[in-house]
Amino acid sequence: MSERQKRIIVGISGASGIIYGVRALELLKAAGVHTHLVVSKAAEMTLAYELDMTAKELRGLADEYHPSTDIGASISSGSFRTVGMLIAPCSIRSMSEIATGVTGSLMSRAADVVLKERRRLVLAVRETPLHTGHLRTMLQLSEMGAVICPVVPAFYNKPKTLDDIVNHSVGRMLDLFDIEVGAVKRWKDDEEA
Ligand SMILES: Cc1cc2nc3c(=O)[nH]c(=O)nc-3n(C[C@H](O)[C@H](O)[C@H](O)COP(=O)(O)O)c2cc1C
Repeated sequence: MSERQKRIIVGISGASGIIYGVRALELLKAAGVHTHLVVSKAAEMTLAYELDMTAKELRGLADEYHPSTDIGASISSGSFRTVGMLIAPCSIRSMSEIATGVTGSLMSRAADVVLKERRRLVLAVRETPLHTGHLRTMLQLSEMGAVICPVVPAFYNKPKTLDDIVNHSVGRMLDLFDIEVGAVKRWKDDEEA
């Protein structure tokens, strides 16, 4: 599949770090990847706390936006083909709901569909510290096929700004879908060139 033909679901839940979801949408748009967005109610709250951006502006970054209550949306069916779903940031609550298979919202239903179709599910979990229940849930999800990708900044690429850190982290999340957005300063790539 070329980048232009790719469709990806982006979920934004109510963990701190909504900038990760926003940046993923921006980079995917620039790369010509078609995005389907679902935003939880709590994420609308973190958006207001963390960014100077309205919910309408956030929705406008995606090619298609689905309300989290729309359980009949295209992305709730496995017959609707996508390369998978990235949830960034992923709250402990959303992560735990996905692990149980009790899919009460479009966010968890879409993630469950991605798992059952054996497509890529990447959960950019943001919480610290973690208790044993969180760690057990992460292990369970990993065994179910999800990729647990906690948002942890790298420093080997010598970031100078918060944007450098965010871009690198999001670029590494999108690497997991084999989507190149040009945001990652890769280790020793220069030497090879
Ligand atoms: C400003 C703010 C920051 C939060 N940060 C986190 C966080 O980093 N990780 C987390 O798991 N929950 C965090 N929460 C709590 C979640 O928003 C809450 O558990 C919510 O029910 C998650 O719902 P959702 O998974 O449907 O988005 C935060 C809440 C607020 C208001």
